[in-house]
Amino acid sequence: MTGQASSRLEPPPAMRTLVAALSLFTLPAFAQEVTRYNPPGVDPKDLPASLALIQPAGRPGEIGGPTFTRTNKGMTVRFDMDVNDLYGGGEVTGPLRRNGTRIELWNHDNWRYLDHGGKRLYQSHPWALGVEKDGSATGVLFDTTYRSFLSMQNNSVTLESTAPALPVYVIRGKNPQEVVARLGQMTGTIALPPRWALGYHQCRYSYAPEREVEEVASEFRKRHIPCDVIWMDIDYMDGYRIFTFDPQGFPDPAHTNNFLHQHGFKSIWMIDPGVKKDPGYSVYDSGNQQDVWVKTASGQPFVGKVWPGECQFPDFTRPDVRKWWAGLYKPFAAVGVDGVWNDMNEPAVFEGTDKSMPVDNRHEGGGELAPGPHLQYHNVYGMLMARATREGLLAARPEKRPFVLTRANYLGGQRYAATWTGDNASTWEDLKMSVPMSLTLSLSGQPFNGPDLGGFALNASPNLWANWVGSGAFFPFCRAHGSKGTDRKEPWMFGQETETAARIALSRRYRLLPYLYTLFERSSRTGEPIMQPVFFADPKDASLRQEQQAFMLGPDLLVVPAWAQHPRLPKGNWKELRLVPGDDGPFQARLLQRAGSIIPLGRVVENTEQESLLPLTLSVVPDASGATGEFYWDAGDGFGYRQGDYRRSTFRARRQGERWVVTESAHEGNRAPDWKRQEVILNGRPLGRQATYTPGA
Ligand code: GLC
Repeated sequence: MTGQASSRLEPPPAMRTLVAALSLFTLPAFAQEVTRYNPPGVDPKDLPASLALIQPAGRPGEIGGPTFTRTNKGMTVRFDMDVNDLYGGGEVTGPLRRNGTRIELWNHDNWRYLDHGGKRLYQSHPWALGVEKDGSATGVLFDTTYRSFLSMQNNSVTLESTAPALPVYVIRGKNPQEVVARLGQMTGTIALPPRWALGYHQCRYSYAPEREVEEVASEFRKRHIPCDVIWMDIDYMDGYRIFTFDPQGFPDPAHTNNFLHQHGFKSIWMIDPGVKKDPGYSVYDSGNQQDVWVKTASGQPFVGKVWPGECQFPDFTRPDVRKWWAGLYKPFAAVGVDGVWNDMNEPAVFEGTDKSMPVDNRHEGGGELAPGPHLQYHNVYGMLMARATREGLLAARPEKRPFVLTRANYLGGQRYAATWTGDNASTWEDLKMSVPMSLTLSLSGQPFNGPDLGGFALNASPNLWANWVGSGAFFPFCRAHGSKGTDRKEPWMFGQETETAARIALSRRYRLLPYLYTLFERSSRTGEPIMQPVFFADPKDASLRQEQQAFMLGPDLLVVPAWAQHPRLPKGNWKELRLVPGDDGPFQARLLQRAGSIIPLGRVVENTEQESLLPLTLSVVPDASGATGEFYWDAGDGFGYRQGDYRRSTFRARRQGERWVVTESAHEGNRAPDWKRQEVILNGRPLGRQATYTPGA
């Protein structure tokens, strides 16, 4: 696409001022800082319904906005901004600071990120975040699902889109945190996940047959390496037919799930979108009965090859198709499946146009969505699939919080599913890149993300895998994976030293569970990212803006990978946080706690359903005025928290003469404390004689 101008559009009519004044009365508070710019000459009613936004609110903007230009392909929108540093764009390879980059927003199955120089990946986030010298920030959201290029130059952000027209939202904030939180309010936040999803996950393409699943699970328990979830990749299916089980390998999936449950594991099973074209196969037959399929330009069901051979693809833009799809999960969930992994949903089509469907395929839409070509709906195919999957799990088990992982997604898709960064490889380059990749997704509205820990393709050396788990243990989503055709990659497969490194790293994650859960809950309410760039610690400090080895886990903990070289760290007093014996050993990230904070810790457990708060430990690092911290806890699953069954505690530490007094100074929710005992660590040391604390009420 060239972005070449074929016509310059006229400014909007002056009448808009009155409309602007009126609509200000109805704006939610956050939207006072949001400006919406409509493409001139287009009636906003004629623009497609937004799939990114749940709150399409903002003051109508007239001056100082973007330049909209019609092109022979669609529309190009350029926004000039006086900012030093640009971020965002969702799932990207390359550096954290995005100045001078251009990516294509067109979801693409990109093994090892080799296609298109890694500049077109599995997800699309038409979004940029600019940070100014003084730390204030501006976000630009291009509200279109159409195929586009997103460029960030030093003082401008441009979207060259195939959309005939699109609106743009400009969000301002006094710091980047505020802008990212507003993005969360506009596009939705994550749903509070079940607590088990925050544990360590073990995956492989594929654990099969069932005996292998049981062996891997047993090995974790035997070796006392914490783990919550075992994943089933495509080989559990009968000939890759989704919603079926291989009668030889998995004759009794309920038994497999029971085994896992009895040993303190959850199970996650893969479901791809392609339905094998196979008369007599129930999913295909019922899909045919309802004619659920995406159509070619000439109106026939589109047929394309994926794992099972020729497949047809549900048209997830149709509400009745999403309902049909959701219904398929009821019997699936009934055999004890705990979570679902939606893959290949760009959608990937082997030998297809550009590895997917032709852009002139037809989607029927329905509800708010108008019928439209694949060019319009390609980028939201995976998101709408994940949405229907989530709805299906919720309908099948209304008392449980659904967990869905999706590969393809779009801005706002964090509402439906967590994500991972697709098919990386076991290389140093990919390990190092996983930090800016996850940070960029985190700055683009998707906090629940992580890479294939250890690398998917190629073999991993013991040294690489140990370094990866040493830092990967602190990513929001923490799942190791490995491809077919590579050596086994479970933590014990690399020898004693790597196994020990994994046990220590994952034990540290599990000790941090109370803090992690608090961050997830806060993110689900406020949109605050869980993994944060170091510059969040001090947005005014320009020297931190490119740091992409170290990262923050929430605002109070810095993670400095063992492999980081000369990382830029924020000024101030950050204290080493020691969590388990040996955590100063090789491969382990340094953890540094912010002065003025209190971090809640549990004990090391082997899965999150074991009692963590035995005791609840508060790590206190005071500054001149003491320290404060938050701790959220609830039943860990279900929706009781919505009726008040939770406890959000504020802890405070202040000095009284020679003593430190630590109290639960306030709490919200109706839940009694889950902890029976509380201990305090002050500046890394258990409190000695000179200090004391008062347990919470
Ligand atoms: C895709 C996925 C990968 C999975 C494989 C087989 O490559 O990205 O994670 O293991 O398909 O299902």
